Amino acid sequence: MTDYKLAVLPGDGIGPEVSAEAIKVLEKLALETELGFDFQEFPQGADHYLNTGELLSDETKADLEKYDAIFLGAVGDPRVKPGVLEHGILLDLRFSFDQYINLRPIRLLDSRFTPLKDKGPEDIDFMVVRENTEGLYAGAGGFLKKETEHEVAIQEMINTYHGVERVIDYAYQYAADTGGKLTLCDKSNVLEYSHDLWQRVFKEKSKQYPGVDRDHILVDAMTMKMVRNPEVFDVVVTCNMFGDIITDLGAELQGGMGLAVSGNINPDGVSMFEPVHGSAPDIAGRAKANPAAAILAAAMLVDVLGHAEESARIENAVGQALRLGMQTADMGGRLSTDEFGDYICSLL
Ligand code: NAD
Ligand code: IPM
Ligand code: MN
Repeated sequence: MTDYKLAVLPGDGIGPEVSAEAIKVLEKLALETELGFDFQEFPQGADHYLNTGELLSDETKADLEKYDAIFLGAVGDPRVKPGVLEHGILLDLRFSFDQYINLRPIRLLDSRFTPLKDKGPEDIDFMVVRENTEGLYAGAGGFLKKETEHEVAIQEMINTYHGVERVIDYAYQYAADTGGKLTLCDKSNVLEYSHDLWQRVFKEKSKQYPGVDRDHILVDAMTMKMVRNPEVFDVVVTCNMFGDIITDLGAELQGGMGLAVSGNINPDGVSMFEPVHGSAPDIAGRAKANPAAAILAAAMLVDVLGHAEESARIENAVGQALRLGMQTADMGGRLSTDEFGDYICSLL
């Protein structure tokens, strides 16, 4: 029996609804395998913030350090100014735990789920390696002459050699391990400092990975190519902001936000797994949310903990359910959030 301590932050909106299904599936997996999970729930999110003023305290962070992994539902609430919960909880977690890799697979499970004509699972299957601790997310900037007609709002894009080198190295290694080509996605034709650094490091690093084919694409062309020829991509490495944007597009290529998964990885520390989607206030509280992304994020967690076989059991169950038409409304099905979770458990 291998026991893992998992910290669960269900968060806001549909976060708690989809997290409950992911935990249910992990509990069922534990019954069927040698794995065991000990869950501890944390209250961070809008209600907790509005009641106590706490976003994510140093004590909570010190506590989270003791867990084998973190599972997060989603944060964001219409009652709180945009950015407060996102920065104060989600980005603080990614930065404090130095989860510098954000793994976001774009993987189509069945041809029927993609809006792309004539594309199938063999065409839509690549990994986005998103830089996760700097870039435009570093929070550098400020206002000059705020709230005057001469106001200047500055948002700086911070790229350090250390930060760029470690994510590009990880992406080369990932491509080497999976036998794929590595594509650098940037805007080096305009961002003459930051993406010049990415270009130089990308080229320099290639010497350490002579077996890995590499190419380059500008981010605007990337969005075009993802729709027209997604089959040309194996592994894509990109900065924080572009990784955010292209993975929502990638989510739709796979069948929607209800399927897209995100692993915030610190290879030497505590990693955090979550769906790519947010708290979806427009459907929260109505048992309409698709928990597949959360369940697949739990599968990625199991994989990163070193249990590929058990992870594949969850992924296969989700694939099987969806192919059988056992789906939530966003995918044209009739199941509620918890009915989908129950069905996955029945397939395990
Ligand atoms: P969103 O991902 O919450 O929703 C976008 C659209 O997709 C909505 O129409 C929603 O109903 C739908 N959708 C999302 N997940 C779904 C699911 N599992 N099943 C069915 N439909 C689903 O993005 P948004 O509306 O831009 O943001 C809402 C809030 O979430 C904001 O506060 C935002 O900051 C936050 N957010 C948080 C995270 C996170 O915690 N990781 C990620 C993105 C957005
Ligand atoms: C995501 C989200 C976050 C991001 C926000 C909520 C900070 O959009 O995980 O994709 O931009 O990374
Ligand atoms: Mn996003």
